[in-house]
Amino acid sequence: MAIAPSVRSILPLGASTSERDHLVLGGCDAVELAERFGTPLYVYDEATIRARAREYLDGLRAAYPNALVLYASKAFSSPALLEIVKQEGLGLDVVSGGELHVALRVDFPSERIYFHGNNKAREELELALDHGVGRVVVDNLYELDLLAEVAAQRGRRQPILLRLTPGVEAHTHDYRKTGILDSKFGFPIATGQAEEAVRRALALPSLDLLGYHAHIGSQIFELEPYVESIRIVLGFARAMQRQLGVELREFSPGGGWGIAYTRTDDPQPVAELVATVAETVHRLTGYSGASGPRLVLEPGRSIVGTAGVALYRVGAIKRIPQVRTYVAVDGGMADNIRPALYQARYEALLANRMSAAPSEMVTVVGKYCESGDVLIRDVELPPLQPGDVLALPASGAYNLAMSSNYNHALKPAVVLARDGQARLIRRRQTYEDLLREELGYLPGQA
Ligand SMILES: Cc1ncc(COP(=O)(O)O)c(C=O)c1O
Repeated sequence: MAIAPSVRSILPLGASTSERDHLVLGGCDAVELAERFGTPLYVYDEATIRARAREYLDGLRAAYPNALVLYASKAFSSPALLEIVKQEGLGLDVVSGGELHVALRVDFPSERIYFHGNNKAREELELALDHGVGRVVVDNLYELDLLAEVAAQRGRRQPILLRLTPGVEAHTHDYRKTGILDSKFGFPIATGQAEEAVRRALALPSLDLLGYHAHIGSQIFELEPYVESIRIVLGFARAMQRQLGVELREFSPGGGWGIAYTRTDDPQPVAELVATVAETVHRLTGYSGASGPRLVLEPGRSIVGTAGVALYRVGAIKRIPQVRTYVAVDGGMADNIRPALYQARYEALLANRMSAAPSEMVTVVGKYCESGDVLIRDVELPPLQPGDVLALPASGAYNLAMSSNYNHALKPAVVLARDGQARLIRRRQTYEDLLREELGYLPGQA
């Protein structure tokens, strides 16, 4: 049976239903993957990741040739994934020494790495500069001085962008808003702190101020906040050029484009965002993209979110007559904290009986010791029984990246599916992994 178009929008490209009525991802039977690799299992479809990367890079460069697309590795990072991103010609946004280390270990070209973060430690900045990262995106005055010192000690002139807070309201969850004045990130333009940062940066010879960055939030569906943010930041850039002679050589309106998590979500295609950003920059500056500042986008979720599907096995089913039916799966908030953190909504598909009709309202919960460990509240699903395989689409971004060992849960395995072949790219943790960092007190350990 064909998958309905509304459901297709939350699944990886090419997802289908097999003759056995199973969900097929990247040409692989999802139920067989669950059997072979165990559950919870995260399945990434390689073709979807590559297609999204190309949509961004080709689309942006067609409209604005002097452009770079960075993958925001906080969404999900692993050597296999970074290899794909590298092959596709993207750069990388990292926000910690850890993300930087993983990128360096896979020989990601360091000149294409941008280092973000609102409280970078001296050691992190030293690591970044020692490996020649392309840009440090400076968030505050403390960091500006610290970075200048670290760069001067190394006899380097480090290219930087200043992260600005344009004061733009993006319509998303409060925890995902980053461009409003009351934010922990960036230099507010409205208060004069952005101008102060420019003046300070110009006085620091070990820093080379190339331009500005602004990221207004995440899971955004509207184009208008981007246009507004670009207008404000480019207005500021013009003022700085006039007053202080600072030429704008690079500009980034960040990432944050939304994806469909449920069949009622209806984001516009990435191509719309890319075209709008390029057109707005062109309209406001006259730059064609062959001349003028380099334009940088840094999507995370919209590259990997739809590519990843989480597979869980159904266990206990608790019916409370006239109240609620709880369906417990073998994962939950330890591998996906998003519903608890942001009230994020998901859909579930019965991967082993795809054509079964929904007939019962249930609440899908995890196995961890928190009442808030709810994956989906009130979702209509076919009759379920223990052993069924539930697939949660759109699980590729910020699930595993935010996963924990709460309740000493084992972090799930990850497979990469492509053309009917599944490659294990991260093994499931073992119980012994839970003790790896512990020192002493174990019988038999010195
Ligand atoms: C500075 C910055 N850039 C890019 C991103 C990526 O956002 P998204 O995954 O929503 O595209 C984030 C995410 O929070 C961010 O903080």
